[in-house]
Parts: sequence; structure tokens; C-alpha cells
Amino acid sequence: MLVFHGLTSRMLGEGIATILNTKTGDVEIRRFPDGECYVKIKSEVMNEKVILVHNTYPDEKIIECILMCDGLRNAKVSEILLVVPYYGYARQDKMFTKGESVSALAIGKILSSITDKLITVDIHNKSILEEIRNAKDVTVTEEIGRFLKTNEDVDVIISPDEGAKEMARAVASVMNCEWDFLVKKRIDGTTVEIAPKNLDVENRGIAIVDDIIATGGTIVRASEELKRNGARRVIAACTHGLYTSGAVERLKKVCDAVYSSDTLENETTKISAARPICNEISQIISI
Ligand code: R5P
Repeated sequence: MLVFHGLTSRMLGEGIATILNTKTGDVEIRRFPDGECYVKIKSEVMNEKVILVHNTYPDEKIIECILMCDGLRNAKVSEILLVVPYYGYARQDKMFTKGESVSALAIGKILSSITDKLITVDIHNKSILEEIRNAKDVTVTEEIGRFLKTNEDVDVIISPDEGAKEMARAVASVMNCEWDFLVKKRIDGTTVEIAPKNLDVENRGIAIVDDIIATGGTIVRASEELKRNGARRVIAACTHGLYTSGAVERLKKVCDAVYSSDTLENETTKISAARPICNEISQIISI
């Protein structure tokens, strides 16, 4: 069983192959002069189960992923287990107004129709997977907790909103420390402040955790408010460091450190999603 990976998932693909005690497959991916993608599977994989680790962000990665699956089928693999570390398009998870595309489902249904199993990592809304055949989400929160416990001087985990409070609770449970989430608090008729719902953060070391950091706006605001509330140290940790242009620089101005996992590889990547992905792989296919 070989592990193939897309061009943006080298670190994670190799990490998964190492844990599974196998090798990465050889593939040629290039672009024609007009920008269209060419894929050729070069390893011998006939009748083999394969794991493909491929993101769906940015858009061109969706095409590369589809062509990788097609190449693997043409090379006569017996089964494709697709791991999508960062599932682009997950945030439009419902129809807010009539006629909108629900991109999270649209992309998932295409991918599940051309693969045998689909594994996502800390997908923005897990419930959409109930509508996608053979799909399962795994979480990197334990790895984040273990990393912070070993490497950071923090004793409170905080999510920037109630939506991410389960992540804060899960990370804190690994670290055996307190957790909370930020809420808007009305101070007077004209002033609203953001502050932890229950905890006093004065002189505490705080890790703000979230599934995705994109523009960094959510974390920057949260960090500023926590420091205004007296926090001694504020760091940020997320599963997916998506970082639109200038985000890391903005974050570094207000956070003492920023960490992310290898679902997207960049300068803040310090945590690997390989272990939880491999645990799930070993549950669903015999290795
Ligand atoms: C939102 O629901 C997500 O969990 C993140 O909080 C959001 O995507 C972060 O975006 P940004 O970094 O642009 O504030």
C-alpha cells in the first residue's frame, strides 16, 4: 500500500507513510502552457489499496485531486482512501438564501463519488459528512494539546467564540488546565467589550485555539482583548493555518507565538495530523 500526496501535502504524506511503515508513490504533476493540469502515476499500484493525501484549496488543487484519482483508477488500484487535510469550501455548509450552492456538500459528493473512503481533518462543520458517503472526520486537537503542554508556557485555553468552545475544552483536557470562550459583554450604553465568559485572565498564559486562521482578524481581536484584560502571554494555535496575505505578520504583532498543524504547510507548522489520520486509516482498512 503506497501513500500518494498532492504538492501541498508533502510533509503530511511522508509522515503518514512513515507511521504506516510504507513508502510514498511516484507521480508526475505538471501544467500545460495553457495552465491545464497533467497527472501521471508512475509507481506500480495494480490491485493495491492506496492512500491519497490531497487538499481542496486553492481551487486548482480540486482539479489536481480529481486527476490523481483518475490516474490511480487507470493504474488499476483496488481502493482509494482519500485524506483531505484541509477541506477547502467547508465553510459554506448550508443554504443561507435560496439558490446558493452549498459548497461543502458539492465538493464532498464529487470526491466521495470517485474514491472509496474519505477522511477529513477538523472539518469546519462535521455534520455535513452525514450526507457524504463513507466520510469520516478526525481531529488534531489532542496533538495540539500535547504540543502546547510540552512547548508552551500557557495554563488557560480559550476559543475566540462559542462555536469553537469544544476545541478549547478538548485541548484543555489533554493539558489538564482551565478553558473558556470569549463573549461580547456590554459595559454601558455605548461600549461592548470582548472578554472570557467565566475566567479572570489577569497574569495568565493563554492559548487561543481555533479550527482555521484565515485573515487572522478573529485571533488578532481576541489577543488584543485578552492582553487588555491583563493576560501575561497570548499565543494562537489552530489546525489549519490558511493565512491569507499578510495574516502571519498581523498575528505576530499581537501574539507571542503562532502554531498550526501540517494540514497546510507553512512557517507556523509545528504539529502533525499524521497520527490521528493513521489511527483512522488502520480502523478502516487492513494494513
Ligand atoms: C469561523 O467560524 C472559523 O472557526 C474561524 O474563526 C474563522 O475562519 C477565522 O477567520 P479569520 O482568521 O479570517 O478571522
